[in-house]
Amino acid sequence: MLSKTMEEALNRQVNRELYSSYLYLGMSAWFETLNLKGFAGWMMIQAKEERAHAMKFYDYIIARQGKVVLDTIEAPKAKWSSAGKVFEEVYAHEQKVTGMINNLVDIAIREKDHATFEVLQWFVKEQVEEEANAVMICEKIKTVGDTPGHLFCLDHELSKRK
Ligand code: FEO
Repeated sequence: MLSKTMEEALNRQVNRELYSSYLYLGMSAWFETLNLKGFAGWMMIQAKEERAHAMKFYDYIIARQGKVVLDTIEAPKAKWSSAGKVFEEVYAHEQKVTGMINNLVDIAIREKDHATFEVLQWFVKEQVEEEANAVMICEKIKTVGDTPGHLFCLDHELSKRK
């Protein structure tokens, strides 16, 4: 069984992962307005992954006889000034999420909760990948040029994400 502290912290993370999903869905919608379908599709897959992250925590809380408590999801912003700015925000957001995951690991250690510690290791590794992807796309945007016209070749590359 989860401690109250661990249960509350995991519930907070369900909300944060759902916010991440909502944020990336908003970014996907914004790319649609630029007709950058590859970017929009990449973000849509990212939004689905974040929902899957939320559900991993959701299922885990239930598996440990905890209670899932859903909270309000904050609205993300709806407009960005350029694709480069979007991905800078993705990187900053993912760094923030890494901090949240590390904080959960710290709580698991303090609570001597080995099972939760083990589950969190998947997220620790996932965050390395999430940050690396954001940095890689930021760099590519800088290379090709941050205007919709220049971004079309990158749009094609991003459309290949499965
Ligand atoms: Fe669920 Fe992008 O971290």
